[in-house]
Amino acid sequence: MKVFSGEKMTKSEIEKRIAELRGLIEKANRDYYDLHQPTVGDRDYDLWEAELLRLEKENPEFATDDSPVRNVAGGVSEGFAKVTHEPPMQSLDKTHSKEELSDFDSYVRAQLHSTPDTYTYLVEPKIDGVSLSLRYENGILVRAATRGNGRVGDDITANARTIKTIPQVLPDTAPRTLEVRGEAYMTREGFVELNKRQAAAGLEEFANPRNACAGSLKQLDAKVTAERPLDVVIYNAGGVGCDGFASHSEMIAAFREWGFPVAPWSKSCKTMDEVFSAIDELQERRHSFQFEIDGAVIKIDERKFYDILGATAHGPRWARAYKYAPERAETIVESITVQVGRTGILTPVAELKPTELAGSVISRATLHNADQIARQDIRIGDHVWLVKAGDVIPAIDSVIPEKRTGSEQAFTMPTACPVCGGAVVRAEGEVAVRCVNPVCPAQLSRRIEHFASRNALDIRALGETVVDELVGQKLVTDPLDLFSLRAVDLYAVEISGHRFGKNALTVMDALEAAKALPLHRWLFAMGIPNVGVTVAKDIAAEHGKLSELANSRVLLDVIANDEKKGKERQILPIKVEAAKAVLGFFASDYGQRFLARLAMFGIDPASEKKTPVKAEGPLVGMGCVLTGTLSRPRGEYAKLIEEAGGIVQNAVTSKTRYLIAGENTGATKTEKARKLGTEVINEQQLLDLLRSKALS
Ligand code: IVH
Repeated sequence: MKVFSGEKMTKSEIEKRIAELRGLIEKANRDYYDLHQPTVGDRDYDLWEAELLRLEKENPEFATDDSPVRNVAGGVSEGFAKVTHEPPMQSLDKTHSKEELSDFDSYVRAQLHSTPDTYTYLVEPKIDGVSLSLRYENGILVRAATRGNGRVGDDITANARTIKTIPQVLPDTAPRTLEVRGEAYMTREGFVELNKRQAAAGLEEFANPRNACAGSLKQLDAKVTAERPLDVVIYNAGGVGCDGFASHSEMIAAFREWGFPVAPWSKSCKTMDEVFSAIDELQERRHSFQFEIDGAVIKIDERKFYDILGATAHGPRWARAYKYAPERAETIVESITVQVGRTGILTPVAELKPTELAGSVISRATLHNADQIARQDIRIGDHVWLVKAGDVIPAIDSVIPEKRTGSEQAFTMPTACPVCGGAVVRAEGEVAVRCVNPVCPAQLSRRIEHFASRNALDIRALGETVVDELVGQKLVTDPLDLFSLRAVDLYAVEISGHRFGKNALTVMDALEAAKALPLHRWLFAMGIPNVGVTVAKDIAAEHGKLSELANSRVLLDVIANDEKKGKERQILPIKVEAAKAVLGFFASDYGQRFLARLAMFGIDPASEKKTPVKAEGPLVGMGCVLTGTLSRPRGEYAKLIEEAGGIVQNAVTSKTRYLIAGENTGATKTEKARKLGTEVINEQQLLDLLRSKALS
């Protein structure tokens, strides 16, 4: 490939290069937006884009309307209703240097030279998520949509309703009809946890929080989205309800008042020097946010200038993105080793030349699975760019092919378990290869390590080496064996030539303390597939004790409900796979033995007290029962009622204040309710109640 390098290209070479760049960018867009599986690093993408823009500008005869640099990337997906954006949801023109930003300012100054008023800039974080639009009618959220191609996006209302920080009902001070726009993102912490769950289930991990967020919003089943740690920041006006603000900052303040999450940091700047130092300050703060940022957005604050400045097809002329150079470091893949996890999954790991990146020295990075290695074409001996996915997890961004010498070696997955030598298989629909030997010592070690990990039973002194030693010496053949360990045995264990010694007492104390840990910690510790920290908490919240789980009505209901194929939407956020896995665990021989041994040790972990219901809102302390055919999923109403401080009950009792009766509600039900002093209302009346502060 001939890359433009300064020497003069002929017209036909330019035309070829333009076609090539368009092809590269379009493929990258498809991989990124449709498949959520990026195949190029951000920097390469930005370089292609910048080169294409320049070539098209210098050679306007080759510029076409369908060029990817003149259109908003990000397609629409199958399976979703379509939403037309009015006005279209635009993108932002990017700058990569302070000089380019100064050019932007000169342009603005020239355009506004005839107005006597001065303008101010606002610098905001550029959140690396998925842009979306939220529409309210009558103060109630009626539609959420992705940007799509800018003109038409996907209707993701059901999914957006599962994001807790998106207001479902607006206060009376907000316009009755309103559309706002912003960014959905996955929290960094949530991303790390989700990837752990994906890996444990043998599924493809997400490359970064942005991809994980996009994948989560494009779920056809909102229950899956509900389990994903998503949040939003609202930063832009939509097509309706946002007029009348003199400045962007006033509009954002109003958004905040109406209950929308807004950016936790922004800076108002009078001069370009102030803009530059705000950009630097933001860069220093970038790791302190819950979301990843890939730059800053510089906006003119005074909205009266927006019409004067206008827009291109790509983005408004009153704002610019400033992209930070991605934090990355060059290193070398010295070898690729294979780890065996607690569920037997074989994970290839790149052993790297130790390199400093964003404050820590990195010597290893997971390569996830063989498919991923093939996609990125990573070979042993390659020079690679190292990044931190979600700001925390070391990951290989891309190979640097120019540095190849020809001596690099392709990697092949082993055909037997590298620890026990047992058979490995790849299940259908999974990307993972697993060792299927149930007594593989590597699996046992990792299970015990998980059992002792921070979010599980938190037995700090039991790290990888100690656990490997205990398993190697057959002192422990099951996680619960830890509870029958004797201090003397532990004391004498040798780890790399040293006695474990006094650490034994620390372990004994931690084990004693673990016996009293709450149910969700134990449930997570048990390492049941599909049961991560969040799912464990959700399940624990619905149960009293661990011993109740084996015959749990709640879990059976989750499965039964699902089989009714979503007629009655799930009220509990527990997913079916998790419910099945938990019941399956306790029904198994191993699960039965596990329970029996716990009983022998006198351990029966109990749930923590449920969080008290909300102490404010129009329905504080009032019992509500939903019945009949409702026009929206029951779970949605339940969520709204709880957010308003109400308590959702299954049946009418003397404590029920409202019976919300949908269509086809039987007369006996309403009769009984009236007798008990319960008011019978319809859906519209409920929505009115939710919006009113005081009841008349
Ligand atoms: S304002 C007309 N503000 O970045 C578009 N966008 O690369 C105005 N983005 O499409 C958008 N943070 O999805 C704006 N503080 C912020 C933003 C932001 C992230 C996204 C947005 C936009 C993309 C452009």
